[in-house]
Amino acid sequence: MIYATGDTHGEFNRFTKANFPERVGMTKEDCVLICGDFGGVWDGGKQDRWNLDWLEDLPFTVLFVSGNHENIDLLEQYPVEEWRGGKVQRIRPHVLHLCRGQVFELEGRTFFTMGGASSHDATDGILEPDAPDYRSQLKWMRWHNARFRVNHISWWARELPGPEEYEEARRNLERVGHRVNFVITHCAPTSVQNLLGGEYVPDALTDFLEEVRRTTRFDHWLFGHYHDNRNLDDGFVLLWEQMVRIR
Ligand SMILES: [Fe+2]
Repeated sequence: MIYATGDTHGEFNRFTKANFPERVGMTKEDCVLICGDFGGVWDGGKQDRWNLDWLEDLPFTVLFVSGNHENIDLLEQYPVEEWRGGKVQRIRPHVLHLCRGQVFELEGRTFFTMGGASSHDATDGILEPDAPDYRSQLKWMRWHNARFRVNHISWWARELPGPEEYEEARRNLERVGHRVNFVITHCAPTSVQNLLGGEYVPDALTDFLEEVRRTTRFDHWLFGHYHDNRNLDDGFVLLWEQMVRIR
């Protein structure tokens, strides 16, 4: 069995037995896939360890692609290994980060994964903790309820893929003849994002995903990021707290 859900942001209540009764009878061979903003690798502290141990104790394997709310500095410290045809980072024995630009085969179906997104909730700026006036800037931002983030503490430039990740993605899609069963991302292609409205602006990643939308055949494209549950045209499925079974 494979289930998918949207952003968890370090809050995993949806996986309790009460909220997810379908988990009864599942084994570590079964997977639940989080479409980015996993948030379980956040500050490397006690809460992270507790959450990750709790996820490891679940009866299924937890898979996630990256979102824009992941501590990329910490995530990059985990070694990369091969798993079911693509690259993963093993955060716990059964909690795996599915790297960007990979194609996996799970239960006879192929999955193209491309995590990442732009933080749209930092419109008032990104603070540099090394700046001499950091403390006063922080105070000002908090006082004005500003929408800001702090570099390497709550924001990472690597929330968007680098050129080598786009190249790897193109190579892997080429290898499978531009045909997969599922595409799993955090943000949507530019044209789909535009349909959703709101404050989201196109960027290099949404434009790349637009290229994938044009060049690759897929049955369903599951994504998160926009905090809503919606079925769109052409197989696009926006997930937030909803859990859907993939068949
Ligand atoms: Fe997000």
